[in-house]
Amino acid sequence: MRKKELTHACWEICTPQFVYNGPKSIHNLKHILQKESLERLFIIIDPKVAQTQFGKDIKNSLEGMQTFYWSEFTTNPTIEQAKKGTERLRAFQGDVLIAIGGGSAIDVAKIIGLFVVNHDSLSIDHTNETIHDNFLPFVAVPTTCGTGAECSPYAIIKDCSMVKKLAIESKSFIPKYVILDPDALQSLSQEMIAATGLDTTSHAIEVHISRQSTPLVRLSTCSALVFLGKYLEKGIYQKEPEALEVLQDIAFTTRLLYPRTGLSIAHGLSHPLGAYTDLHHGMLVGLVMPAALRFNAPACRALLDEAASLLGVPYTGPDGVAQWIEDILIKSTICDHIHKHFKGMEIPKKSIAKQAMESSSMCSNPRIIESYQEIQDILQQSLKLLEL
Ligand SMILES: [Fe+2]
Repeated sequence: MRKKELTHACWEICTPQFVYNGPKSIHNLKHILQKESLERLFIIIDPKVAQTQFGKDIKNSLEGMQTFYWSEFTTNPTIEQAKKGTERLRAFQGDVLIAIGGGSAIDVAKIIGLFVVNHDSLSIDHTNETIHDNFLPFVAVPTTCGTGAECSPYAIIKDCSMVKKLAIESKSFIPKYVILDPDALQSLSQEMIAATGLDTTSHAIEVHISRQSTPLVRLSTCSALVFLGKYLEKGIYQKEPEALEVLQDIAFTTRLLYPRTGLSIAHGLSHPLGAYTDLHHGMLVGLVMPAALRFNAPACRALLDEAASLLGVPYTGPDGVAQWIEDILIKSTICDHIHKHFKGMEIPKKSIAKQAMESSSMCSNPRIIESYQEIQDILQQSLKLLEL
């Protein structure tokens, strides 16, 4: 169940090569494409983003170039959707992948890129550099303040035949170019800022308390937690431009850390929960974080207290961070949203808990998990929040 303790862990840092950030940084997109002599643009864009001013501005800026816009994917993209996208890309003969959206758009772009060079297969021979050498040029434009998919070597894709989310890893999935333009966040709803912001907050806390965390990574989580405490609620409730920019930047920088440290059972549980319920990842991580933190608290008390202090949560005592997250879930209406989505739905808690036991987060979770029943209890506790 638990991987052998590493005494001399190696942190291989893989990052995008070029990162543009700040308001209006999207204006660099055309320049990047011209610099790389890319002419046939296969653009994977979240359908909601395509309707926003940000999406329309991108379209206008690329006028006159050969473009194909593809949006036939869902919140939890599936293998079948990626296969259809691959067919479209091949027919169009695209020479660059441009992903514009949240984790869904960026992850499905990665899988399409993989299918193109790997005979439509998810099985990767990591000793063979062919995939990396032939992977299409990749540009990511994240439009949320969560996931960090734009700098992650993983792609999450749903396998409908097993009702399971698969995490596929390849260094090719790190885009060469990332554009972090906070203007992309202006059209997000309060719920979506909260959901993606809570995802990022969970990443920062989970890395901070991970069993595999070290002072090296906590140098970064400490500053992320301070800025999350200062800006998360301003971003959610007031949509302050400065707050949204900081949240987008934290999503990026925090995601760089956890290929090294792993996450906690909150993520281990939220992925199978998402596979069964088809709800937004950030909402589900936020929902299970409080119960996961309470479960883990005995094993990481000092680090959790430190996180509470850095975040500046308005509660004292051992339960402060969990209570603060619960307040955000309720005030931002995420709880209401989940409650409505789950209404009449049978949640197979045992199957979800058993799937979570196979998660890579098991070996980084602060407290040793002895059985799937403990995970089922965390899920049960989380669902109680919806009854309030
Ligand atoms: Fe996440």
